[in-house]
Amino acid sequence: MKPKVYITRKLPDEIVNKIKEVCEVSMWEKEDIPVPREVLEQEIKDVDGLYSLLTETIDEPLLEKAKNLKIVSNMAVGYNNIDVEAATKKGIMITNTPGVLTETTADLTFALLMATARRIVESSNYIREGKWETWSPMLLTGQDIYGSTLGIIGMGRIGEALAKRAAGFNMKLLYHNRSRKEELEQELGLSYTDMNSLLRESDFVCVLTPLTPETKNLIDYEQLALMKETAVLINTARGGVVNEEALYEALKNGEIWAAGLDVFEQEPISMENPLLSLPNVIAIPHIGSASITTRKNMAKLAADNLLQGLSGKEPKNLVNQ
Ligand code: DGY
Repeated sequence: MKPKVYITRKLPDEIVNKIKEVCEVSMWEKEDIPVPREVLEQEIKDVDGLYSLLTETIDEPLLEKAKNLKIVSNMAVGYNNIDVEAATKKGIMITNTPGVLTETTADLTFALLMATARRIVESSNYIREGKWETWSPMLLTGQDIYGSTLGIIGMGRIGEALAKRAAGFNMKLLYHNRSRKEELEQELGLSYTDMNSLLRESDFVCVLTPLTPETKNLIDYEQLALMKETAVLINTARGGVVNEEALYEALKNGEIWAAGLDVFEQEPISMENPLLSLPNVIAIPHIGSASITTRKNMAKLAADNLLQGLSGKEPKNLVNQ
């Protein structure tokens, strides 16, 4: 008998067909609407494998409903949407998709940094709104990137890829991480720095740490108060790592200069969120890994992990400890 699999969003045919070769597959057929919780609660009951996205909350009450579930394969490197501890207790494997999205996400992070520093969105809107009357000395002036100081919080794969890009802009590179990476310090000219000094000294602060109970609101009122008035904060990790109320206050009161945000505490962000009223915020809809090639590679890797787990092998990207 083929193992049963539920896929929580419409995926490219080539991926679904690959899974169908060895599994009985059912799928939430919509591309732009997440599977409703009550549908997922029904579907999870008798499947052997679940192929999920970061939009699904895979918590203990949901896992309790699963009778045969062996693996949840998440099509994302982050897996804060899954209660891994509860899954591990039930002997359910959890996998993610590291590696394949590193360069694409680093590209987007650097693009957001540049766009925020040089007010690209505001400038484009300025023309479209018919405001451009003349060249003027201080019109839409921003912050220099070349030769400035970049502080990276979270030196994993994406942090490393970002540092390589920043080195090409002659940036001074500071980082803070759970553990020091001395080889990388040599290779990339990075300086390990305590969190407060990083915040004080950086012109750009990029948040690239996973969301865990330890990193929740890591950037809060106190941390923002340490940053330079000219500093730019970039978050392409998870919204919950930065306290949005504190960020709004800091931006509004000129405690920091601007922010580029790809991720939010609540996604999609509410149109009432005050951050969207600020001209010095660039907000984009969680597109860090969104190149065509990378999203296909993520989908394929998640399928490979799922099939490995269902065939009794240890999946390549198992995250349970
Ligand atoms: C991830 O993979 O965790 C990103 O947030 C989406 O690619």
